[in-house]
Amino acid sequence: FDEQSFQNDLIEWFKAEQRTLPWRENQDPYRVWVSEIMLQQTKVDTVIPYFNNFMERFPTPEALAEADEQEVLKAWEGLGYYSRARNLQNAIREVVASYDGHVPDEPEELGALKGIGPYTKGAILSIAFDQPEPAVDGNVMRVLARVLNIHDDIAKQSTRKLFELLIRETISKEDPSSFNQGLMELGALVCTPKSPTCMLCPVQKHCRAYHEGLEQELPVKKKK
Ligand code: ADE
Repeated sequence: FDEQSFQNDLIEWFKAEQRTLPWRENQDPYRVWVSEIMLQQTKVDTVIPYFNNFMERFPTPEALAEADEQEVLKAWEGLGYYSRARNLQNAIREVVASYDGHVPDEPEELGALKGIGPYTKGAILSIAFDQPEPAVDGNVMRVLARVLNIHDDIAKQSTRKLFELLIRETISKEDPSSFNQGLMELGALVCTPKSPTCMLCPVQKHCRAYHEGLEQELPVKKKK
């Protein structure tokens, strides 16, 4: 497995083919954070208008910290999973109180904030701060399970840990943001759950599942 070539092919494809999305306009960690929380249980097309509206009403951490919770919940209406909005506002209040409104770029500090689990932490660190940290969600596990022909059950916590380890070894140190977002984008556009379009895949030549005809069998997800 040629890591360097895999990184290059993935990143080049991402730069050329990525969707234009409002949270990709810049690397503002607050915008990246809000987008990743909204995207956790909600599809991209649904999130876009909510994200734009949220940023208009609460353009900075200070604005969100000062808002009434009811106002925030109102802006979240329709997205569901309202604890996401409450946790986000609590965490942002902590950022304003303890970090002068600057989202921390230390993994330990970031991970200690309400609602920031390993995935969100890695997404913010890599996308906003260019740190080579893994951000493993379902899309990323599906892509890597296929590329590396991994048959472990992705419903297990230990499998997610394994993927984090593998990404630490494989992630581009020059452009960790495009690498992680490339994996997410590939999972969304090409390496889809059913009938992936391997013919159009930028990393087809690196993909062990494709070469063995196993792309439809992976990832393995056992029922709980
Ligand atoms: N899903 C989760 N994070 C995403 C991102 N940054 N862009 C597109 N889809 C995503």
